[in-house]
Amino acid sequence: MSIRTFKIASIPGDGIGVDITEAAVEVLQKLSQTFGTFNFEFDTLDWSSQKYKQRGYYAPPGGVEGLKKYDAIYFGAVGWPDVPDHISLWQMILPIRTTLNQYANVRPTRIIPGTSSPLSACVSNSSLLDWVIVRENSEGEYSGHGGTTPSTAHAPHTVATEVSIFTRVGIERIVRFAFETALHRPRKKLTMVTKSNAQRHGMVLWDAVFYEVAKEYDGRVEYDKMLVDAMTVRMVNRPETLDTIVATNLHADILSDLAAALSGSIGIAPSSNLDPTRQFPSMFEPIHGSAPDIAGQGIANPIGAFWSATEMVRWLAGSDGNSNIVGLVDGPGVGNMVKAADCLMKAIENVTQAGVKTRDLGGQSNTKAVTSAVCVEIEKVY
Ligand code: NAI
Ligand code: MG
Repeated sequence: MSIRTFKIASIPGDGIGVDITEAAVEVLQKLSQTFGTFNFEFDTLDWSSQKYKQRGYYAPPGGVEGLKKYDAIYFGAVGWPDVPDHISLWQMILPIRTTLNQYANVRPTRIIPGTSSPLSACVSNSSLLDWVIVRENSEGEYSGHGGTTPSTAHAPHTVATEVSIFTRVGIERIVRFAFETALHRPRKKLTMVTKSNAQRHGMVLWDAVFYEVAKEYDGRVEYDKMLVDAMTVRMVNRPETLDTIVATNLHADILSDLAAALSGSIGIAPSSNLDPTRQFPSMFEPIHGSAPDIAGQGIANPIGAFWSATEMVRWLAGSDGNSNIVGLVDGPGVGNMVKAADCLMKAIENVTQAGVKTRDLGGQSNTKAVTSAVCVEIEKVY
């Protein structure tokens, strides 16, 4: 039997990013040992805020380019109170996403067994909330276009601009990706979110391109459009009317934190930064940050990290060309990896169902206890 080895760059980053990455690596190794048909080789890259303070950079020169040799990237979280957040974001995450063409950020949200939503309707029926948010991950409000004149915030008449860039190419590819995602989900439903009443250029282009692409899916995917402010209300009041959601970089960033909180905790929410063309490696990370308020206490919820790991395994399963562009795999995949991804997700759900949960989910367990429980459960589910 041939064993396929995947080379993974692991970037723990800062704060709880370190704890949850360590936990995810442990669980992934347990998974590969249990299945025996694939293997992960991790290279740990210390691109942290502490290193930034010592040497003046996060990724060393050529570091981001160097990621191209890996099959995937596993990322914890970056950011620490003594380094301005725009530095950590712009020196680390954003260059990785753009250099590696990871234009689709996929963020599933649902209420996993043994956890509960703050939405009263979902307490008795958790299936009411089951969404995938598709975030445009390469341009829009996070294009970095703009400037400050004079270059200080403290002059009496300082002016700053923050220009959003929306390209037809960028909108079209993410909208098509979202339609494909919706098409491969049971309900085949897509909601597009903009703010095209107040923002009359880029957002209007989004709407126009959306309806153009939508024609290709007429009769196959049901679709509608929301303004972002009204969308927050719909997410809270009528969660069951939503399924797949596509939005700009900023809007989807905000909506996915809301989605995570509505599903129980930001600590469980996963994300995949995908290059759907598969030319470059994709990156998998929980959506939360480095959580300085709980860092170093060993109590971070590792579920979002584990769920992100299942998404990585599922994506890698498609690397034999067996997948459609959303990484949902129809065939057997590389060395049974689809089964492995399902096994890990089931193990996670069994553990939360059994009440082995961190404090953010109302439990008493620490990161290590949840990790060990998931490792034990992998063997049982297998
Ligand atoms: P955060 O997500 O780190 O924390 C928000 C709140 O959620 C905190 O109360 C935290 O304790 C809690 N929380 C987050 N993850 C948790 C987990 N796994 N288990 C239990 N509780 C959890 O967001 P915040 O505080 O706005 O940002 C902190 C730092 O992280 C900043 O420097 C920010 O720039 C950075 N950040 C980095 C991200 C990334 O690396 N992709 C994403 C978001 C923020
Ligand atoms: Mg965010």
